[in-house]
Amino acid sequence: MSINWDELRAAARAAMTSAYAPYSKFPVGAAALTEDGRIITGCNVENASYGLTLCAECGLVSQLVASGGGKLVAFTCCDSNENVLMPCGRCRQLLFEHSANGMVLETVSGFKTIDEVLPDAFGPRDLEERK
Ligand code: THU
Repeated sequence: MSINWDELRAAARAAMTSAYAPYSKFPVGAAALTEDGRIITGCNVENASYGLTLCAECGLVSQLVASGGGKLVAFTCCDSNENVLMPCGRCRQLLFEHSANGMVLETVSGFKTIDEVLPDAFGPRDLEERK
């Protein structure tokens, strides 16, 4: 499947403009492509109880599931200066759960697979194989 990275970046930028980030003043947008060709987005949503902040990836995963689910094949994330951002550790795990084999992420050091950004990940298969 060919991935239109410009389109995905534009979707992340658009999502970023909806961010609720009054505390960090660091709006973030994320966008991903599903196996069936949908573009899913999310923005960060902060909270007065700072630790409850939802990263843009959390919103993206929620939108994925709420819009019918499916597997992610490509992902990008940006700040308001259009810099590529890495998903935090927790969000890599969230993305892994919904990743297609070989899912590609745009990273600060080029394109990488989900296995490269979260090696030897614990995932759904472990629950089946190790009980
Ligand atoms: N943030 C995200 O939403 N995703 C990332 O990949 C990096 C960080 C948010 C969380 C917080 O609202 C703000 O960026 C500053 O950390």
